[in-house]
Amino acid sequence: MRTAHARVSVRSTDPAAATQEFADDVRYYLSQTPRQLPSRYFYDALGSALFDAICQLPWYRVTRAELALLAKHAPAILGKSTAGDRLVELGPGNGEKLATLLAAGLPAKTGVELHLVDVSGAALATAARGLSGFESLRIVAHEATYESGLRQVSKEARVGGRTLVLFLGSNIGNFDPDAAISFLRGMRATLRAGDRLLLGADLRKPEETLLLAYDDPLGVTAAFNLNLLLRLNRELDASIDLNGFRHEALWNKKESRVEMHLVSTKAQRILIPRASVDLTLREGDRIWTESSYKYEPMEVTRLLARCGFSARSQWVDTDARFALTIAEVE
Ligand code: AVJ
Repeated sequence: MRTAHARVSVRSTDPAAATQEFADDVRYYLSQTPRQLPSRYFYDALGSALFDAICQLPWYRVTRAELALLAKHAPAILGKSTAGDRLVELGPGNGEKLATLLAAGLPAKTGVELHLVDVSGAALATAARGLSGFESLRIVAHEATYESGLRQVSKEARVGGRTLVLFLGSNIGNFDPDAAISFLRGMRATLRAGDRLLLGADLRKPEETLLLAYDDPLGVTAAFNLNLLLRLNRELDASIDLNGFRHEALWNKKESRVEMHLVSTKAQRILIPRASVDLTLREGDRIWTESSYKYEPMEVTRLLARCGFSARSQWVDTDARFALTIAEVE
């Protein structure tokens, strides 16, 4: 029987401001060489649902591998949490990872404060609902980018208590190496000595394995990628023919990243009125929509060290090739 439910509060962004930011980003990134669209825009309600479906595909093992590691090492990860401690998850998605961690490692009635930072309001609502059954938790849902969410969280920080930041699912893989460093250093700057970071990173593996994970035979990842165009149509008044593009995933060995692209299958003109975009594409022209960098366990430790975190433990799923690293602020 559940006696006390978690209290949930929400800090959401103004929808008009969010649409304007989307429009500005679309205009800016489509004018770059190569043309790009930021991967964080995958996650509207449909995109978040498609991502959840990806996580269930036999070829995409990141989520299952990480869930197993979290369940197994939950007590070591959470330690003896006490009232005033805070858990901050960046990009919790549907909240399943956090729920698994708490169920396996959180002693009852600890009074821990949870902060969820996600750009997807839909994902946040699902996550908050899934976590609301935990007793004596205060949950704050921040509909925000990682950077602005972290700033909000540190502004609200009370004195005392320790912070554990969860950055899971290999979300770090979306950052170029330089951006990963400045992002982690920025995160470090909002934390105090003794605070910790739990980082999930997908590891390098054979090209065939990676391509099946990012171009699955069911076409779910293709739908996830093409959904970005649907968003341009709906939110920015474009009228793009989705059949005029195909999904492409490739392994860039030199950069150690999987890239996803939308490739134009015909000569076409793309008009995106609310972003003031007028783009002429030839057959074979592409829009780069995502990078997923793959690491070696040692590279993760080194990256953390360069950003002011010293690794305390690292757990590796050697079969799926995924690493979970816990590090402490020096
Ligand atoms: C959620 C960013 C970690 O890069 O593996 C899954 C997103 N893209 N399939 C990843 C994704 C294509 C995923 N991340």
